[in-house]
Amino acid sequence: MNIRIPRGTQDILPGHSEEWQYVERIWHDICRRYNYAEIRTPIFEQTELFQRGVGDTTDIVQKEMYTFEDRGGRSLTLRPEGTASVVRSYVENKRFGLPDQPDKLYYTGPMFRYERPQSGRMRQFVQFGVEAVGSADPAVDAEVLSLAMEFYREAGLKGLKLVLNSLGDQESRNAHRNALISHFKPRIDEFCSDCQSRLEKNPLRILDCKEDKDHPLMQNAPSILDYLNEYSTKYFETVKEMLSKMDIPYEVDPNLVRGLDYYNHTAFEIMIEGEGFGAISTLMGGGRYNGLVEELGGPESPGIGFALSVERLLMALEAQNVEVPMQAGLDCYLVTQGEEPDKDAAALLTELRRAGITADKDYMNRKMKGQFKAADRQQALFTAVLGEEEWNAGIINLKNMQSGGQEEVAIKELPARLSKQLKEEKK
Ligand code: HAM
Repeated sequence: MNIRIPRGTQDILPGHSEEWQYVERIWHDICRRYNYAEIRTPIFEQTELFQRGVGDTTDIVQKEMYTFEDRGGRSLTLRPEGTASVVRSYVENKRFGLPDQPDKLYYTGPMFRYERPQSGRMRQFVQFGVEAVGSADPAVDAEVLSLAMEFYREAGLKGLKLVLNSLGDQESRNAHRNALISHFKPRIDEFCSDCQSRLEKNPLRILDCKEDKDHPLMQNAPSILDYLNEYSTKYFETVKEMLSKMDIPYEVDPNLVRGLDYYNHTAFEIMIEGEGFGAISTLMGGGRYNGLVEELGGPESPGIGFALSVERLLMALEAQNVEVPMQAGLDCYLVTQGEEPDKDAAALLTELRRAGITADKDYMNRKMKGQFKAADRQQALFTAVLGEEEWNAGIINLKNMQSGGQEEVAIKELPARLSKQLKEEKK
C-alpha cells in the first residue's frame, strides 16, 4: 500500500518548520503590540455560516468548500476562511457587550478550499488574520493596514504593493449595482454561465470572473468610485489621508472587488512584485464588512480585517533570499558507555534539560566514535562523556567542541557547571 499526501496539502518538515516558527513569533508579537488578542475557533462550522457570511454567489461557496454530512446528519464545512467564524463567535459570545470596542482579535490556522493546486495555491493553507469588530472609525482601517505592512517589514520582505479600493456603503453599492446590470445585460449571453446567473443576484461578482476577464465590456465597466455617495467618499478620503500620514504608499484600483460578498467601503490587497510568483502575487487581502454582524444575528457592529497566507509569505521570503534564523545546535551531547553509566544518563539528561540546557544522547547503541559523530551532526557545543571509568570515579569529562578545552566535573555538578560555561560561550 502506498498512501500519499492529499493533493494541495504539504508536510512541513524539520528544516522548514523553523521558518514557520519564525514568522509565527513575529506575528504573535506584532499583534500583541497593536493590542489584538488571540481567538481560536473550530476548524469546521455549520455550512450555513459560510453560505450566509461569505455569500452563496461566490466561487468559495459554489465551488470550493469541503462540505460533509456528519453522523448526525448535519451539514458541516471545513472553514474556507476565518472572518465568518470570528464574527459568529463575536455574536454568540455577546462580545458586542464588552466595554472595549472595537473587539480586536487575531487568529492563525489552517483554511481549506477545493481549488486547483499550483504554486502558492493550496487546498489546505494557513492564514494569519485580524478582525476588529465594533467600530466604524476609518482609523481602524488605517491601523489594520499598518499592522499588515509592519508585519511584512519585520519579517524582512520588500517590494510590497498595497492596492486599495472603496466598495462604498449600501446606497452607493445599489447605485453601482444598477449601473452594472445596465452595462452587462445587453451582451450577457457572451459571458460564462456563472456570470449570467450572477447578473441579477450579484453583478459585482462578474468583475471578479476569471473566465471572462478579457471581454471588452470588462474594460469599461462602470467604476464603483463614480457611484460613491458623500459619506463613502469622505470615508475613503480619510483612510487614504491616514495612510499617507503613516508613510504607507498605496495605489487605488477601482477594479479590486475581492472574492467574498461581505465587503463594503475599504477593500484592499497586498501584492508582491518581482520574479518567481507567476500568476499568484497576492499575499494578503481584506476589507471592511459593516453589516456582517447583523447578517449573522448580532446588533449593528461594523468590522474590518484581513488575512494573509503563510505559504505565500514564505515563498516571498525565499524568493528574496531573506535569512531566517534556523534552530541552533545542541548545547550538550551526552556520550555514554557501559550499562551503569547508561542507566544514570536518563536522569542526568533530565537535570540538564531542567536547567534550560538543550541536551540529547544516543539511543541506537552506537560506539563512542559514532556518538561523537552524532554530536558533530547535531552541532553540539559541548560533549559530556560518561564512560565506565568516569562513572566509577563519580566524574564526567566535559569537552568544549569548538576550543577543544576539557575539564573533569563531578557528575552532580554538571548542570550548574555547564550552564555557567554556556553563558560564557553565548556571550
Ligand atoms: P481571501 O482573499 O479569500 O480573504 O484570502 C486571504 C489570503 O489568503 C489571500 O490573499 C491569500 O494570500 C491567501 N489564500 C487564499 N486562498 C489561498 C490558497 N488556496 N492557497 C494559499 N493561500 C491562499 C479572506 O480569506 C478574508 N477572510 C480576509 C479578511 C479578513 N477580510 C476581512 N477580514
